[in-house]
Amino acid sequence: MKTYIITGAGSGMGAATARLLSKDPNNRLVIISRTKSNIDEVLTSLDNKEQHIAAAFDIREASAWKNLFATYSDKLASIDGLFANAGIGGANHYGENDRWDEIISINLTGTYVSIQECLPYLRNSKQAFKHILITSSCLARFGVPAYTAYCTAKTGLLGLTRSLAVELGSEKILVNALCPGWVETEMARAGIQLLANAIGKDYQSTFDEQMGIVPLQRITQPEEIAQFVKFMFSDLQTSITGQGLDINNGSFMI
Ligand SMILES: NC(=O)c1ccc[n+]([C@@H]2O[C@H](COP(=O)([O-])OP(=O)(O)OC[C@H]3O[C@@H](n4cnc5c(N)ncnc54)[C@H](OP(=O)(O)O)[C@@H]3O)[C@@H](O)[C@H]2O)c1
Repeated sequence: MKTYIITGAGSGMGAATARLLSKDPNNRLVIISRTKSNIDEVLTSLDNKEQHIAAAFDIREASAWKNLFATYSDKLASIDGLFANAGIGGANHYGENDRWDEIISINLTGTYVSIQECLPYLRNSKQAFKHILITSSCLARFGVPAYTAYCTAKTGLLGLTRSLAVELGSEKILVNALCPGWVETEMARAGIQLLANAIGKDYQSTFDEQMGIVPLQRITQPEEIAQFVKFMFSDLQTSITGQGLDINNGSFMI
């Protein structure tokens, strides 16, 4: 049995990854998001649902993580992989209602807390290679207006990835980041709507315009991200660490 923790599993990419990984009866999943009804609903959609754990808490809360590991100490004595995927999107504007602190604290600090709280249990894994996969963004690769907090947080995650990859390399804990372009989830729909509002166009024409500037002229499906995570957690993945991995239909090329 292998045990994987997925944060941000209440919807989008995290939920799609949970559904795919649950097809293997040798996987035990711990799925986490803040909204209990969402995470409970995802749990009911999983294969082998009786062996998984759903928990609703804010990833920034170290005490909630400790409580999770204490409550399920029999099942979670060791874990084999963490998909640190939870995050929030959207713009921020300097001033009274600036979302800077919220976006930085969830996307950057929350990811750091998630990893640090899971590390002792990853170290207990008997697998030859253990995996931490962080969800960054193509907005760690290029800037867009009004997204200063999001771009900063997602770029910071690449620094976190590289530093941890060096720190944990000798323990065979591989640390990587995904840098997706548009993925068809609620977050992307909200982002495209925000863009449409800003330029005074409707949703569909803004969507078409966004796809038009991407070489493959398409949006990634959450299930494609799930397949990639499955590979990154597999026994075949023994030599990629410290990398930002771009899944973006060609929107950014190194
Ligand atoms: N969709 C895209 O185009 C795209 C592109 C690049 C990167 N990303 C990144 O991909 C990741 C997944 O996003 P998605 O597109 O799948 O969007 P999504 O459907 O909105 O999923 C985000 C998930 O994170 C959870 N979450 C947010 N804040 C949390 C917190 N403080 N503690 C625990 N859970 C929290 C949300 O649930 P609750 O609100 O209930 O907690 C939700 O389950 C994010 O990190 C996002 O920044 C998305």
